[in-house]
Amino acid sequence: AKVEYEELPFITDVAETDLRTGKMVTPPLKLERGDAASAIASAPRRLSGQMRVGGQDHFYLEGQIALAVPGEDQDVTVYSSTQHPSEVQHMVAHVLGVPSHAVTVEIRRMGGGFGGKETQGNQFAAIAAVAAKKLGRAVKIRPDRDDDMTATGKRHDFLIDYEVGFDDEGRILGADFHYAARCGFSSDLSGPVTDRALFHCDNAYFYPAVKATSAPLYTNTVSNTAFRGFGGPQGMVGAERIIDEVAFALGKDPLDIRKLNFYGNGGRDVTPYHQTVEDNILERIVGELEASSDYERRRREIAAFNANSPIVKRGIALTPVKFGISFTATFYNQAGALVHVYTDGSVHLNHGGTEMGQGLFVKVAQVVAEEFQIDIEQVKITATTTGKVPNTSATAASSGTDLNGMAAQNAARQIKDRMIDFAAEKYGVPKEQVVFLPNRVRIGNQEIAFADLVKQAYMARVQLSAAGFYKTPKIHWDRDKGQGHPFYYFAYGASCSEVSIDTLTGEYVVERTDILHETGRSLNRAIDLGQIEGGFIQGMGWLTTEELVWDEKGRLRTHAPSTYKIPLASDRPKIFNVTLADWPENVEPTVHKSKAVGEPPFMLAMSVLHALSDAVASVADHRVCPRLDAPATPERVLMAVARVRREAGV
Ligand code: MTE
Ligand code: MOS
Repeated sequence: AKVEYEELPFITDVAETDLRTGKMVTPPLKLERGDAASAIASAPRRLSGQMRVGGQDHFYLEGQIALAVPGEDQDVTVYSSTQHPSEVQHMVAHVLGVPSHAVTVEIRRMGGGFGGKETQGNQFAAIAAVAAKKLGRAVKIRPDRDDDMTATGKRHDFLIDYEVGFDDEGRILGADFHYAARCGFSSDLSGPVTDRALFHCDNAYFYPAVKATSAPLYTNTVSNTAFRGFGGPQGMVGAERIIDEVAFALGKDPLDIRKLNFYGNGGRDVTPYHQTVEDNILERIVGELEASSDYERRRREIAAFNANSPIVKRGIALTPVKFGISFTATFYNQAGALVHVYTDGSVHLNHGGTEMGQGLFVKVAQVVAEEFQIDIEQVKITATTTGKVPNTSATAASSGTDLNGMAAQNAARQIKDRMIDFAAEKYGVPKEQVVFLPNRVRIGNQEIAFADLVKQAYMARVQLSAAGFYKTPKIHWDRDKGQGHPFYYFAYGASCSEVSIDTLTGEYVVERTDILHETGRSLNRAIDLGQIEGGFIQGMGWLTTEELVWDEKGRLRTHAPSTYKIPLASDRPKIFNVTLADWPENVEPTVHKSKAVGEPPFMLAMSVLHALSDAVASVADHRVCPRLDAPATPERVLMAVARVRREAGV
């Protein structure tokens, strides 16, 4: 190929854009409730500031990959590492100029996606498909790690401007946020990502008056994309920063300010997007963690330790998470499934979700096995393919199980209902007397094996295959008004971290982390615990050591593990107590009353950032807010120590 190109200006630091009026890749969003400006102006106290939050590379263990196999006529089959097979199908069809029916996209599993394979797989799939059709042979594309990291979009870095008015107790009266994000050369998912940042500018806190605006800025760089939390983490760190600011201004423990501002009763339950929080368990989950982590006693011990330790300083913080579950683009909240029961009683399961290590396939198989009361080994989980379930949504927004679990349950129930009708008629018993027992079915007062009933139903020409469907009820969203009910429910958690920092080098260690997280009535505790631990550690990497550096030519210099530091096993908290709350259940009728778990635990890592901030603040007796930006690399911690000392004059 001969490539002709022209170098154009680019921006690798969002601070170099015009934060309010710069060119945007997609229209910005405004959320508003009450009159924030006058609430802040008339508040007894107010302050403002700016926070910088870095991006993040997905660092999936397996990179992007696509294998395109040409078929007859216009057909092509693409095996793609994608979280969104239907979108790859559309893109490939568009690029080849053929109808969607000519393109089949299949994905058995990914070695991690984390949002990085929601849209970023498209280019590899499209290129492979074009080459395959042109050459008439199978074509595979697999960029190596350095090319993958250089060429694919990442988590958006943000610059957050905030202003807050509060009273002498620390109660927030008004808040104003501006979230400027570096989006790159195209819109990609930057619209919904920056929207979700605004949706989480409250985290767990009620603002009597609030305004939040986004700026999805065009920077002519690699187009940033989805990453676990989807802008929510960047939104929440803004909320937690103002909590810190208020606490330092009043000389109080940030945890007290947090608790004072939690969503609660008496009208303190409406979000900046005008949705009422109906399932609030903040007080209980934070209260239980505060007790089990021994927060108060340890805070006193840490103060005593710091008083006698001039170089190494300790810090502690306890932060909550409240994360909205649903795609904010309401139409995405639908799913399909396809279930076949074969005559030997084995079950073939397919649905629109993709497996990337999060355990979705096992959870959905559990749901189907439960419906039929058969062993899970009887259920074959098959590769996701656009040929079996069409028009699917990305496996994203943590809603994979909520959507596909319900669709598969719906399909299984259709078949089960037909089997019940058949058995009731054949054996002359009322339908209520056909009961599915483990691997057997009781009909009246006799029991037969599940597979036997299946065989009998087949012989009687009963359809043993069904397509299931589900759409999330209750949700709606008017983006122009900035009002609606975009989330079906919220997922909650809290974490408490203790760190020690070396004030001579800025290096630090996470000494201990305690987590209490909830997933409603858990479908699979082992998977949920894995998601919580993994999410926390990944979030910790984002907020601490993972730093993206570009040179003056706009080249990414951190494109391999030698320069880009994801957490190592040795960076895990030395003591790591992860507990799944066993008491909550979803107030909404989700699949077996469970809750989504994929993304919310990522934001539990905010406790590490705030523990670092607490340790830094101790060098000047907590008189100065450290305003620690993310990632809080050792360098940044060291600079924060110097700044706090300078500002406090110590
Ligand atoms: N867990 C693993 N092991 N690998 C992943 O790629 N992606 C996360 C989360 N957990 C991911 C993961 C992201 S970004 C999302 S949105 C959800 O899983 C998607 O899957 P779910 O909807 O089935 O939870
Ligand atoms: Mo997850 S960022 O919604 O793929």
